[in-house]
Amino acid sequence: MIKKLLTVAALCGAMAAPVMAERGDPEHGRIIAFTCAGCHGIPFHQNVYPTYSVPRIGGQSEGYIVTALRAYRSGERRHPTMQAQGNTLSDQDILDIAAYLSELGDSQ
Ligand code: HEC
Repeated sequence: MIKKLLTVAALCGAMAAPVMAERGDPEHGRIIAFTCAGCHGIPFHQNVYPTYSVPRIGGQSEGYIVTALRAYRSGERRHPTMQAQGNTLSDQDILDIAAYLSELGDSQ
């Protein structure tokens, strides 16, 4: 209930301030980035099978992460796995994930 009220309050705040910087919500990003850890959070940054290297994304700059995810989503950057991931993300999701990941250490 409290969470619902906070959400409503946050939405009202957003409407009252139309000129907002383009910044994501790291808390929402943390929740939706959970699946990303399945690959990006593994030790040695290597997928078990099939074996391939997974880049480190924790601690990268927001701009870099946003650009990469948009490029996968549009198909400009080609990689079947990440294109599939990108296709599930809205513009806001990408901003939120980038805000979260940029605040992480290099654990993911
Ligand atoms: C099934 C494994 C897998 C999952 C799940 C996954 N990724 Fe990736 N990710 C990869 C691989 C492999 C690459 C390298 C692709 C390439 O060579 O372009 C990559 C690349 C990236 C890059 C570009 C990094 C760079 O240095 O250019 C970003 C950003 C990224 N992933 C974010 C995410 C996010 C956010 C999620 C969750 C929504 C996610 N990934 C889920 C495997 C995965």
